[in-house]
Amino acid sequence: MKKNQSSSRRKFLQQFSFSAAALAVPALAGAAENETPSFAILKRNGGISNLDNINLGLIGAGGMGVEDTKTALLVPGVKLVAVCDLYDGRLKDAKSRWGADIFTTKSYKELLNRKDIDAVIVATPDHWHQQISIDAMRAGKHVYCEKPMVHSVTEGPAVIKAQKETGKVFQVGSQGVSSLGNEKAKELLKNGAIGQLNYAEGFWARRDPVSVWQYPIPADASAQTVDWDTYVSNTNKRSFDAMRFFRWRNYTDYGTGMAGDLFVHLFSSLHFITDSFGPNKVYASGGLRYWNDGREVPDVLLGTFDYPKAAVHPAFNLSLRCNFVDGTSGTTYLKLVGSEGAMDITWDSVTLKRNKSMNSDDPFYIEKLKSSGQEISDRKQMQGPESITFEAEKGYKGGPYDHMNNFITAIRKNGKVAEDAVFGYRAAAPALLCNDSYYQNAPMFWDPEKMLLLKK
Ligand SMILES: NC(=O)c1ccc[n+]([C@@H]2O[C@H](COP(=O)([O-])OP(=O)(O)OC[C@H]3O[C@@H](n4cnc5c(N)ncnc54)[C@H](O)[C@@H]3O)[C@@H](O)[C@H]2O)c1
Repeated sequence: MKKNQSSSRRKFLQQFSFSAAALAVPALAGAAENETPSFAILKRNGGISNLDNINLGLIGAGGMGVEDTKTALLVPGVKLVAVCDLYDGRLKDAKSRWGADIFTTKSYKELLNRKDIDAVIVATPDHWHQQISIDAMRAGKHVYCEKPMVHSVTEGPAVIKAQKETGKVFQVGSQGVSSLGNEKAKELLKNGAIGQLNYAEGFWARRDPVSVWQYPIPADASAQTVDWDTYVSNTNKRSFDAMRFFRWRNYTDYGTGMAGDLFVHLFSSLHFITDSFGPNKVYASGGLRYWNDGREVPDVLLGTFDYPKAAVHPAFNLSLRCNFVDGTSGTTYLKLVGSEGAMDITWDSVTLKRNKSMNSDDPFYIEKLKSSGQEISDRKQMQGPESITFEAEKGYKGGPYDHMNNFITAIRKNGKVAEDAVFGYRAAAPALLCNDSYYQNAPMFWDPEKMLLLKK
């Protein structure tokens, strides 16, 4: 590992010395074009896939289902033919948004029975992802399933099995993995831009009620307008409760808390960038500090994750945190830290910061260098900028489009997706184990390669 890392570091330093001349190498051509060494443009190459018609069905037509469908309809040749939802209001909205001839139903099985549908988007609450995805693949449909792929860590293998047995294209919806920002970060890490990775972190800070899951409840919400019996048919039976239906993220029967909703995005990006299979130890702490609205999930959550040494990366630690009572609000970011620098990564930008100098006049350090046979020189060196930002070119359609286009292209060309069932499970598992750790007040141990929960 050390040998690989130092040779990739040398490679990076050869390619990327922060001088304007070095920026002219092909991997960093965007920077050279821009002619400022501290800023570079990320470009998306490649055209659109061929135009074979793809007929789409949407299952779960709430916030994300509508967004995913709007994105899918931007890909040439995609047509929406049917929408399924358990609430009348969403079906009415679907017809007014996409036309009266759209087929609507409250039964996803009725939608899956239609022969004219090639692919479905599954954007229901998390507790339905597994069953609907499996039923859809077995009914011959390709599936774009929202994250997290599954609601509990035990549910993943059945999705992987269904995907393998049916050969259908299955993509999980963490859009970041298809973004220019994630691709650039992967390239920079591989080229040694931050030296040897040892730490990563990410956080969310939110404060306003809607962002922290106090969604509006429609005035007509009732057991007449909602198919409640179906909603709870795969979990604990209860009588109709509009809060549990429209604010499902707050309840463990349906949602997966902050970890399943938000941490999972960072696991997906981190695993894509590092090629990691995941952590082997997960520990969470947190609490319900403010939003005492009946929710069963914490509103402050911290997770720490140990990534063991693997063939493709050294051992490193990950720290994730989410605060829904953060008066400063703030940003979501993924930071990767290495021995020689760090990267702040978003879907459309990467800011790379490097240590200016590693030199020291500490006598002990100098003695150590000498005894290891290294030459000591007090000659000053050329130095490049400490920071460089790569930004997506103006007009970039974004990670969500790239991710959906990746799914549609895979269907048309019988190709691979960025986030298949195995990848999706490896991203979901540590997030779900984070919840298990929080509720059980104990660390969780996971074999990321074999995807197995280990005994404590
Ligand atoms: N990738 C992302 O960035 C992103 C962002 C937001 C949400 N999501 C994911 O999308 C999913 C939906 O989240 P949302 O915010 O859109 O929630 P939402 O409540 O707005 O929408 C969910 C919809 O599913 C319907 N539904 C519930 N059970 C159903 C069933 N069995 N069959 C058919 N319809 C059913 C509900 O009536 C509702 O309209 C979640 O898994 C969430 O994690 C992903």
